[in-house]
Amino acid sequence: MPNIKNIQSLRCMKDILDESSELFTYFIDNASNIAKRYGFSYLETPILEETILFKRSVGESSDIVGKEMYQFIDKGENDVCLRPEGTAGIVRMFVQNKLDRAGGIRKYFYHGPMFRYERPQKGRLREFHQFGCEVFGESSVYEDANIILMINEILSFFEIDYKLQLNSLGCKECMPNYKENLVEHLNDLSLCEDCDRRITTNPIRVLDCKNETCQTELKDAPKITNSLCDTCDIDFEKLKIILDKNLISYEIDSNLVRGLDYYTKTAFEFVSNNIGAQSAIAGGGRYDRLVEFLGGRETSAIGFAIGVERLLELIQVNKEDKEILYIGAMCEDAIDTVFTKVSKKRKTNIVITDYKVRGFGKHLNNAQKQGATIVALIGDNELESDTIWIKNIKSKEEQTLKIDQF
Ligand code: HAM
Repeated sequence: MPNIKNIQSLRCMKDILDESSELFTYFIDNASNIAKRYGFSYLETPILEETILFKRSVGESSDIVGKEMYQFIDKGENDVCLRPEGTAGIVRMFVQNKLDRAGGIRKYFYHGPMFRYERPQKGRLREFHQFGCEVFGESSVYEDANIILMINEILSFFEIDYKLQLNSLGCKECMPNYKENLVEHLNDLSLCEDCDRRITTNPIRVLDCKNETCQTELKDAPKITNSLCDTCDIDFEKLKIILDKNLISYEIDSNLVRGLDYYTKTAFEFVSNNIGAQSAIAGGGRYDRLVEFLGGRETSAIGFAIGVERLLELIQVNKEDKEILYIGAMCEDAIDTVFTKVSKKRKTNIVITDYKVRGFGKHLNNAQKQGATIVALIGDNELESDTIWIKNIKSKEEQTLKIDQF
């Protein structure tokens, strides 16, 4: 029997509390507000889904499905797994609810835990959180630009520096020809074992192999951006023009293929230089064929997800802006007044208290430990005169007010 006292959280799975949870909710609240302004509505889908969903969407040849899924057979003999990402479940929901037949444009945002059994590394968790958005039914390249502008707005709100890497992966017209040329080229190279396998399963994944020898071998590989059909080429050029006009800088990376198999046309990643090797803070792109792959009608779609934990490494809550009120009792009889006052004040303020009688110094100490900016105390004298003593921690200003005016 393991010692009960030694039960720990699983490796690469973290509790989120105190300062981290404050940052976490600060991010989710503000990113959600931005998403709502862009016309997205909140959506929840289950964390557990049938394994086949991810095999069909993310792709059997991807590392996520091939190596990293938390997959098991449940008590009803169903082959299920914890979602490794959010898009597949949302497309499943879209098809299941026949929204592909209803027409029109639908925009959803979501946030929640994702699970990937990855090799432990800084910035790489096995349970992590994503904040994401998905748009269905809009094929205009202006929507691609809109999504990128929105991520830019979220990252700028939190004052995060980033580099945007951009590529186009073509469509069902141009991608097959490109793949054929690529395979012909790859067959003559000496690549790592993984890449050799990918040549038959999904050759474009070879392009983003992290192995240095493979990257050197790949230097003359054909580029997808040189093989786009007219429509994809025009759209990609148009996207670049819109981004230029809106002062969004980007780098074209024709090896950016993303680790999930469902992308078509625009693909992008937002990376930061300030968080180590796992530098991708957000990624996404178009997936115009996925609704059809999952049994629905062909529907244009585009989306992205931000890795919340990676982003939180880069932001700070501006505590200066936040007012936290601490109300305390210095005698037994004051607890009742404190209780009433705290309940009233909580309608508009962040209020902390502990309903214990403490001396003046203990209360001040307690308040400061919990980050209070204003301390309000009631003792015998204050009770007698119907007043409350107040101190602004930052300016050190003190005053006594009539309790009704507080
Ligand atoms: P993804 O690039 O696999 O895309 O994940 C998005 C973000 O999640 C990454 O940029 C990264 O910040 C974060 N992330 C991924 N794996 C981990 C990990 N092990 N630990 C910590 N953070 C991680 C997707 O998941 C797509 N569903 C995005 C999308 C939405 N495409 C279209 N719509």
